[in-house]
Amino acid sequence: MSDTAKLQVPGKDVEYPILSGSVGPDVIDIRKLYGQTGKFTYDPGFTSTASCESGLTYIDGDEGILLHRGYPIGQLAEHSSFMEVSYLLLNGELPNQDELTAFENTITRHTMLHEQLATFYRGFRRDAHPMAVMCGVAGALSAFYHDSTDITDPKQRMIASHRLIAKMPTIAAMAYKYSVGQPFLYPDNKLSYTGNFLRMTFGVPAEEYVVNPVIEKAMDRIFILHADHEQNASTSTVRLAGSSGANPFACIAAGIACLWGPAHGGANEAALNMLREIGRPERIPEYIARAKDKNDPFRLMGFGHRVYKNYDPRATVMQKTVREVFDALKVNDPVFEVALQLEEMALNDPYFIEKKLFPNVDFYSGVILSAIGFPTTMFTALFALARTVGWVAQWNEMISDPEQKIGRPRQLYTGPVQRDYVPVEKR
Ligand code: CMC
Repeated sequence: MSDTAKLQVPGKDVEYPILSGSVGPDVIDIRKLYGQTGKFTYDPGFTSTASCESGLTYIDGDEGILLHRGYPIGQLAEHSSFMEVSYLLLNGELPNQDELTAFENTITRHTMLHEQLATFYRGFRRDAHPMAVMCGVAGALSAFYHDSTDITDPKQRMIASHRLIAKMPTIAAMAYKYSVGQPFLYPDNKLSYTGNFLRMTFGVPAEEYVVNPVIEKAMDRIFILHADHEQNASTSTVRLAGSSGANPFACIAAGIACLWGPAHGGANEAALNMLREIGRPERIPEYIARAKDKNDPFRLMGFGHRVYKNYDPRATVMQKTVREVFDALKVNDPVFEVALQLEEMALNDPYFIEKKLFPNVDFYSGVILSAIGFPTTMFTALFALARTVGWVAQWNEMISDPEQKIGRPRQLYTGPVQRDYVPVEKR
């Protein structure tokens, strides 16, 4: 087997090492390419570019496999908890009972927000999208927690990471409360991470809130399914922002902004809106036809993925969770039937088969979140809440990487060549 790749450029033959990871495709190390040939590679959308080395998450898109630190997502979703998966992502190994208890206590101790942040919310319009609020408040944390912004200090980095994981549910719940005009609820640290979030979101000070264990479990599982996903757009954004030495709160705000887009985290909101718009199984063929029409910008939201060319393993767990939540809440939203039939029809359609388009994590998540009582605008905020642990784990990994450099892609310039300025009266 060759361990170098040979490249012929006019007037020169060059060789580059081929590096192997523990699993997955090898990579050609082209770091010296520009120095040796004066040429860049061209890869819009980074479809063939590994931007970093990472030991956190592995995806085999052809087989539909997702591993966190080696553990399959299906096993984690079935047997683990979001706190345990968070510990795993941050520290590399599953915790023993003492380590888990200590970690949960640490996160619990950081759930409150600086009191002045409540005033900060009042600057937003009532109808602000929760992602606008999340983005603003996460960025604003850097103005409140100066004692954890020195990124050269591993201890401060860990405190900032714990703060972000702990405070994100409080921030998201407050964004929701603000939008519906209800009072903010302080965290109740007797509850689990997820139970606490449900109470801060759906509870009111006037009444005791009793956490439904089935919903708590389902929500916790949804958080696990969203915890990390390799070098996706928002994670790459966090890494790129962090590569300049920016503080972690600012980097996570950048990640939230990127996640908001409908091609990424915003797809869960768009998917449910689409299913509701379809409304009845009879209308599915019309929407499938639109998705296939090159002249129509419409796409089946919650379908397709840059990496998965097989069933997204997170979608499998999501589909199962819909049934559990519906049974627990004794609801039966017709939108689930539309989703099931749409999936079946698409999976048997040559267009989707040929392009290897399968349901992704967002296809069913909206159906569950809506049944639990979240408005669609909160869906992406919940994704951001859960993905925060992935972002901070990836950010920590990057900062501790001795090879880390500021991210600075180059370009293929196609604009005008140099020309002289012409005064306005002569143009
Ligand atoms: N419906 C109809 N056609 C599609 C879809 C879809 N959902 N997704 C991809 N295609 C077609 C696309 O038109 C293209 O066709 P052609 O080769 O004829 O031009 C082909 O499949 C390849 O698509 P692409 O846009 O080149 O692929 P990509 O890797 O750049 O995009 C994607 C991946 C997820 C942005 C895209 O599949 C999409 O827009 N899906 C809908 C949005 C969505 O569900 N996003 C959530 C992704 S998972 C959660 C997350 O990561 O945030």
